Amino acid sequence: MTRKQRIGILTAGGDCPGLNAAIRGVAKTAIVRHGMEVYGISDGFLGLINKEFIELTESKLSGILTLGGTILGTSRVKPFKKESNGSRTISKPELIKEHYEQMGLDCLVCIGGNGTQKTAYRLSQEGLNVVGIPKTIDNDVYGTEKSFGFDSAVNIATEAIDRLHSTANSHKRIIVIEVMGHNAGWIALYAGMAGGGDVILIPELEIDIDNVAMYLQERAYKNKDYSIVVVAEGVSPKRKKKSAAEYIAKMISERTGLETRETVLGYVQRGGTPSPMDRILATRYGSAAVELIANNDYGKIVTLRSEIIVPVPIEEIAGKLKVVTEDHPLVKKAKWMGTCFGCNGSGSNNNVQMQK
Ligand code: F6P
Repeated sequence: MTRKQRIGILTAGGDCPGLNAAIRGVAKTAIVRHGMEVYGISDGFLGLINKEFIELTESKLSGILTLGGTILGTSRVKPFKKESNGSRTISKPELIKEHYEQMGLDCLVCIGGNGTQKTAYRLSQEGLNVVGIPKTIDNDVYGTEKSFGFDSAVNIATEAIDRLHSTANSHKRIIVIEVMGHNAGWIALYAGMAGGGDVILIPELEIDIDNVAMYLQERAYKNKDYSIVVVAEGVSPKRKKKSAAEYIAKMISERTGLETRETVLGYVQRGGTPSPMDRILATRYGSAAVELIANNDYGKIVTLRSEIIVPVPIEEIAGKLKVVTEDHPLVKKAKWMGTCFGCNGSGSNNNVQMQK
C-alpha cells in the first residue's frame, strides 16, 4: 500500500482577508480529492522552527471560508535572517529542515507575500518541496496580476473614501486619507479611482507638492469647495516621525491656506471577512497548489494571468516587487480625467523593483 501524501501549510507575513479561504481550498482539495493528510503549521515559519502544528481534518475547516485573519496564526519571522548574537546553536533553516523530515512532510505550502515567497524559495534551494500561494492586500507580489486580500482592502478603502466625501463636502475641507502600501501604491490607485479621489499620491511616482497645492487651489477657484486626497503610506518623509497623511496634509494647508484634515485607515484594511472575489481567488489558488503537489511538481508559485491560474517557478518572482508604473492604464485614464498624481511625468515605466 502506498503511503498517503502529507502536506504542511502555513500562513506568514501580515494577515489579510482570504487566508482561511486559501487554507480551506488547499486542505479540502487535498483531503477530498487526493486523500492526502494536511498539517496546519502555527504562526508562519515560527511553527516550523518550534514544530508546532495541528492536523487539519475536514471538521476543522467547517465555517472558516468567510472568517477574517488566519486560523493558523501568522508571524513575520524570517528564518534566513542572520542571528545578531552569533550564537552557535542550530540554525533556524536547519531546524526547519529537521522538523519537516520528522513530520514526514512531502511538501510545504507557503501562503504569503514577497518575504514569504523569498523564504520559500530559499527553503526549496535547501532541498524542501515547496509550493507558494500569493497573498497580500498590497498586491505587490511580482508575476501575478492579483494576490488575494487586495480586492477586500480596496473595497474597505473605497467605502472609507465614499464616507469621507460627504463629511468633506459638508465642511468644505480637504481630506487626506492614507491607505496601506509601503512600496507599492496599488490600493491608493484602485481605491482612489473607485472612490473618485481628486489627488492620488503613490510612492512610485515622484511628487511635487507645489503641483498638488496648485491643483487644489485651482479646484477651490472653480467652486469645487472640497477635495479628497488619497495617499499611500509609502509617501512619507525620510525621517518617519509623521504619517504620510499628516505630512501631506500639513504641506497642503501651509501652501494653500485651505482647511485640511487627515485620516489614516490602517489595519482596518487587513481585517474582517474577505470579499466574494477574494474568497474565490484564494480557493482557486489553494486548489491549484494541491494539483501541483499531486503531480510532484514543486518549487512553483500559483499566479493569476489573464484570469487563468498559471504555476511559475518561485525563482522567477522571489525578491522582486510588482509596482505601479507611470504608463499603467489606470494612471493614464485617471490623468485624462484630470486626477492629479502630483508629478510631471517623472515616474518609472518598469513594473519590477527589487525587494529590500
Ligand atoms: O500586509 C502588508 C502591509 O499591510 C503593508 O501595507 C504595511 O505597511 C504592513 O503590512 C504593516 O504591517 P505590520 O505592522 O503587521 O508589520
